[in-house]
Amino acid sequence: MTATVTSTSAQPAPTGITFPEGFVWGAATASYQIEGAAREDGRGPSIWDTFSRTPGKVYAGHTGDVACDHYHRYADDVAMMADLGLGAYRFSVAWPRIQPDGTGPVNVRGLDFYDRLTDELLAKGIDPVVTLYHWDLPQTLEDRGGWTVRETAEAFAEYAQIVHRRLGDRVATWTTLNEPWCSAYLGYGNGIHAPGVQNPAAALAAVHHLNLAHGLAASALRSAGARNISITLNPCEVSPLDPANPADVEAARVIDGVANRIFFDPLLTGRYPADVLEHIARITDLSFIRDGDEALIHQPLDVLGINFYTPSYVSAKAGAPGAGDYPGSQGIAFRPPVGPVTDMNWQIEPASLTRLLTRIHRDYPGTALMITENGAAYPEVPAGNGEVQDLRRIEYIDAHLRACHDALADGVDLRGYFAWSLMDNFEWAEGYKKRFGIVHVDYTTQERVLKDSAKWYREVIRRNGLE
Ligand code: FCB
Repeated sequence: MTATVTSTSAQPAPTGITFPEGFVWGAATASYQIEGAAREDGRGPSIWDTFSRTPGKVYAGHTGDVACDHYHRYADDVAMMADLGLGAYRFSVAWPRIQPDGTGPVNVRGLDFYDRLTDELLAKGIDPVVTLYHWDLPQTLEDRGGWTVRETAEAFAEYAQIVHRRLGDRVATWTTLNEPWCSAYLGYGNGIHAPGVQNPAAALAAVHHLNLAHGLAASALRSAGARNISITLNPCEVSPLDPANPADVEAARVIDGVANRIFFDPLLTGRYPADVLEHIARITDLSFIRDGDEALIHQPLDVLGINFYTPSYVSAKAGAPGAGDYPGSQGIAFRPPVGPVTDMNWQIEPASLTRLLTRIHRDYPGTALMITENGAAYPEVPAGNGEVQDLRRIEYIDAHLRACHDALADGVDLRGYFAWSLMDNFEWAEGYKKRFGIVHVDYTTQERVLKDSAKWYREVIRRNGLE
């Protein structure tokens, strides 16, 4: 058979773009994913220690016990960040290092670590962007109900103040929570993340208590003098598979409600949307929402963090079982990825990021945005010459930066971009199998090697744009 040769149609070469002056260039990590030293200096157990030890929960039984050993190698890691020219570094504080039991006595040695890290960053001219909760809940709090109970939100506000008292004089931005969607729906909905509960009503209670935790902590931080207060969400652009089909449009409204507006609206407008409350009232009696809670959640935000990886397409389908991470989604089908995907099997669609940012800008005017995570898993490891040729990661980040630039051109107030992740790390239920780093980590030797994407990103930062 002869193949028909068609001329490779002349795609216009992408043109160079420049980002606004002062645009923040960073990279992100999270405590349990990189620190290791799981039992050192008084750290208590977290739900991820428990979960990763539960057979069958994490790929090949991997745990964060050692991870990237960042706890001991932080100074070298910060030197590497400086070499890349990062203007900011987003890391998270492990609550069980600070309060091993979640409440009560403070473990000073835990605070000491973040103090050293903060000073090391500042010495290299890198702004510390702190996330107070990136999923490592102290196990003791989970034993008392975790995010399904109000006390956890109250404990979080106390913990936030403890960290602020120690680092408040030096930290650039305070992010309360990372992706409460994941904490609630993966943790208590479909159970693929710690603590591994599968209960839609519990997941919805967790949503509310996470929102409340943010509000209580943000208010306490503000009173204590914190200037730049934020939360990071992972909103998803949810589109109807067939925009001309009203049933698909309705399915998209439902999923957008439980996935996105259940966070956006109380945080940014002080009200849960009526249609979302009506939808979830089929699953829970909502008794966990007390009078005045929405006002507590609605605190002024200096910047809203957005983590973006992939879009979502849904359709109405009688008999579809729905998905545990979207309570009440029975009768709705989620389209499997189409076209190019990353190693996570996540569809690559940069234009979806532009549409998402533009939508937030339109629906919640006046909100300053920051991409606090974006990146891709690909398996490349050092080749014979020691180089890591991760061209697909470069293409992914390049395309998403262009999407950010398009959003800026549409008037979106986008302040910066953090690549996920600075280095390969413990990718939750996927263990060390999935590599998101722009820096390769050899988990046997702990050697770090800049991938081609890291060298490329260094140039992007230097140029404040793309060629
Ligand atoms: C996000 C998490 C981050 C990382 C990336 C791939 O949901 O915030 O820790 O696992 O996904």
